[in-house]
Amino acid sequence: MAAAPAVRFPVSGLVRLLGLAAAAGILFWAVHYRGGMALSTDEESKLPIFNVHPVLMLIGLVTLNGEALLAYKTVPGTKKLKKLVHLALQFLAMFLCLIGLWAVWKFHDERKIDHLYTLHSWLGLTCIIFFSLQWATGFWTFWYPGGSRSGRASLLPWHVFFEAMFMNSLGMLLVVLGALVILAIVSPGPGKIDTYRGSSE
Ligand code: HEM
Repeated sequence: MAAAPAVRFPVSGLVRLLGLAAAAGILFWAVHYRGGMALSTDEESKLPIFNVHPVLMLIGLVTLNGEALLAYKTVPGTKKLKKLVHLALQFLAMFLCLIGLWAVWKFHDERKIDHLYTLHSWLGLTCIIFFSLQWATGFWTFWYPGGSRSGRASLLPWHVFFEAMFMNSLGMLLVVLGALVILAIVSPGPGKIDTYRGSSE
């Protein structure tokens, strides 16, 4: 494989800036346009419960996960400290993502909507399962109780590879989600299909 290109600008700073901008953007969207967030509500729409989902998913899996991946480059000090920051941020990311999942599940339950009927939900659940497995394997092998030297050396390339694959799947998930949001906006509701047909005949 060719050597990685040398980047001549502070790319970690740019990643951090974009991660924070995304987090600020989704928080603003949820609070300003969607009525805020809550873990339980009497509101009939149950929207505040749903809103917890995109906010925590994005802050957890995009912003914090991005920081955690960069920790080996951005955190000064010993390798052990870098590893601890990486592990702690991933743990926080996983914790937020599980609350985000619980929130959308609760929203579906309370609104009597079926679970897991979209591509987004299948890809999303697969992502969360792999993310949790990756975290548990990494913790077990690289932190506590810690694998043998040769065990760690053979797992490391896989650990790094799956982190990269995870980010790619997350990217795909967000692209699919974006496309579905646009489709949902432009497509006529079920009741309107006949009206549209009628007007073109
Ligand atoms: C980025 C990581 C994300 C993951 C891993 C994820 C995962 C999931 C999962 C597993 C479900 C299924 C819940 C159920 O069936 O009860 C779901 C539902 C949903 N999510 Fe996400 N989600 C993510 C981000 C987002 C974002 C940013 C939005 C933006 C609005 C969003 C909107 C929705 C909607 C509308 C549903 C309900 C419809 C459906 O099941 O597709 N999600 N998500």
